[in-house]
Amino acid sequence: MNSPVESAPHHIFADDSLSVAEQAEVLELGLEMKRNPIRKSLENRSVAILFDKTSTRTRFSFDVGVHQLGGHPIVVDSGKSQMGKKESYQDTGAVLSRFVDAVVWRTGAHQNLHDMAETATVPIVNALCDDFHPCQILADLLTIKEKKGDLRGVKAVYLGDGANNMANSYMLGFTTAGVDITIAAPEGFQPEQRFIDRAKLRADETGATLRVIGEPDVTGADVVITDTWVSMGMDADRDTTALRRFQVDEALMSNAAPDAVFMHCLPAYRGSEVTAGVIDGPRSVVFDEAENRLHAQKALLEWLFR
Ligand code: CP
Ligand code: NVA
Repeated sequence: MNSPVESAPHHIFADDSLSVAEQAEVLELGLEMKRNPIRKSLENRSVAILFDKTSTRTRFSFDVGVHQLGGHPIVVDSGKSQMGKKESYQDTGAVLSRFVDAVVWRTGAHQNLHDMAETATVPIVNALCDDFHPCQILADLLTIKEKKGDLRGVKAVYLGDGANNMANSYMLGFTTAGVDITIAAPEGFQPEQRFIDRAKLRADETGATLRVIGEPDVTGADVVITDTWVSMGMDADRDTTALRRFQVDEALMSNAAPDAVFMHCLPAYRGSEVTAGVIDGPRSVVFDEAENRLHAQKALLEWLFR
């Protein structure tokens, strides 16, 4: 909105919307953001922050983050706007582009983002959809960078629902960073081949390894990760019996590297995908991970306006 857009905006729809070099730049900026949080990079800019699904971390971190960058955040729940009901995403994209400088959007179908992008002349940032959660992955990588130093060669294992948005984003975003990622999930919960193929392109570029296995094996892992067994929008009565053996408990953690950390994007369900002993225990970094949403997303926004 501030300046005329002369080229297509850089949308962040998935973890490979940033190249290998671009992701590294954003993560470096995230560390700098944490050291010097109050900035002017979004001065006189407004950001629409839209939610079709519930949120705690994403809502607060984007709202506070835009404020700390000197910008104006406008947080709207979909139920309170015309979008998607009385008005198409295409019309919404055209209208919002006349008012704001970026759109941050949590929605359901990934296609919705592309529909809005048909008309939007400002960047659209995916704040979670059914297929990806790229902002969370930037925060996770920032956390691993802080805890482990160099990202390349770090071994991460994600266990549980390997077919959800987080698993797809771990495959794409971690391979981009050069982190070796294993998805451990039972049959029926493994990632779709199209997402594996897409992540393999990044793995080939960075030399990261990408594996999908059917056993809850975390031998030698530096990072152990899980997520809810029932994501937003899924049937609450979904049969998750097959996932029980993939629960992250103390016994499983004892097979990981001695200094392994436990990560979870939150919200977490103690007693399902993780035991209270692990998530509330000494190896858990989940609240550092949550805090890093703020720093990583501020870095992403500042980078987009450079
Ligand atoms: N991890 C995450 O995106 O949390 P919220 O659903 O609370 O935003
Ligand atoms: N897979 C989870 C992530 C929540 C941040 C969901 O989509 O509900």
